[in-house]
Amino acid sequence: MEFNRDAWLTLLGRLHMAAVHFPLALSMLAALLDVLERRWPSEARAATVRTLLRLAAPAALAAAALGWIHADREPLGQSTEQLLRLHRWTGVACAVLACLAAVGASSAFARKFFAWPAALLVAVTGHLGGSLVYGEGYYLAAFERPSQPASVIELESAPSGASFNRDALPVLNARCTECHGEKKQKGDLRLDRFESAWFEPGEYGTVVVRGKPAESELLRRIELALDDEDHMPPKKSAQPSPQEIAVLRRWIELGAQP
Ligand code: HEC
Repeated sequence: MEFNRDAWLTLLGRLHMAAVHFPLALSMLAALLDVLERRWPSEARAATVRTLLRLAAPAALAAAALGWIHADREPLGQSTEQLLRLHRWTGVACAVLACLAAVGASSAFARKFFAWPAALLVAVTGHLGGSLVYGEGYYLAAFERPSQPASVIELESAPSGASFNRDALPVLNARCTECHGEKKQKGDLRLDRFESAWFEPGEYGTVVVRGKPAESELLRRIELALDDEDHMPPKKSAQPSPQEIAVLRRWIELGAQP
């Protein structure tokens, strides 16, 4: 196998997902032990805190560097741009704090002012990273009525491709037909039943281009940044989950059949 620099960089970037767990665990454990050490001083505990802080710094630097590579090579799309920027810079701040904490590992003052904030920030950064992958509000979504992950599975195994009524319609009914249904047709668009008009170029582009999700106005708008005025559904409405978007994309990819 010949050396492929691009592929190796991509692999390095993906290792970010594994590498982040080291600074997370090391920083948080160091801060926790430091708190215990202040309450019940012991030289063994103090030495452990110093070691953990000195390990956390290179781990945080490595995780931040890999994350940087990953974000540049495989950004997750426009809708996550803002979140990605925040995650990038909190991650960098974690690495800086971890280094300061390591340098000042023997000073109680430096531990309090660098190691504790580092532990806090690393948790926040981890959560932002999770939101990038699983979607914002992922935890609270557990309490919402289930979206349609079942139909993703069905879709994957369906030999005949995706069907509008079975796969796409439940998602559109949940997220779009309030404004694009029987009662209201915002932008002159109905999404509550299969329409051949979708495939004709219209005022706003073509709603659905068979096999081409990126050229389909329906999906393009969903994937625009939340703040974009063309984003669908509008910012104030409940947003589709990543699974729901995946169902729509698959339906279009597989030919947008009725
Ligand atoms: C709260 C109301 C509302 C919801 C919910 C909503 N839309 Fe819209 N939509 C509008 C309005 C208003 C327009 C027209 C203004 C514009 O072009 O932005 C529009 C326009 C559109 C257009 C362009 C019109 C055309 O003929 O091409 C598309 C495509 C679209 N919406 C898709 C969707 C999809 C897909 C969903 C669900 C994921 C959705 N909308 C949910 C209000 C809504």
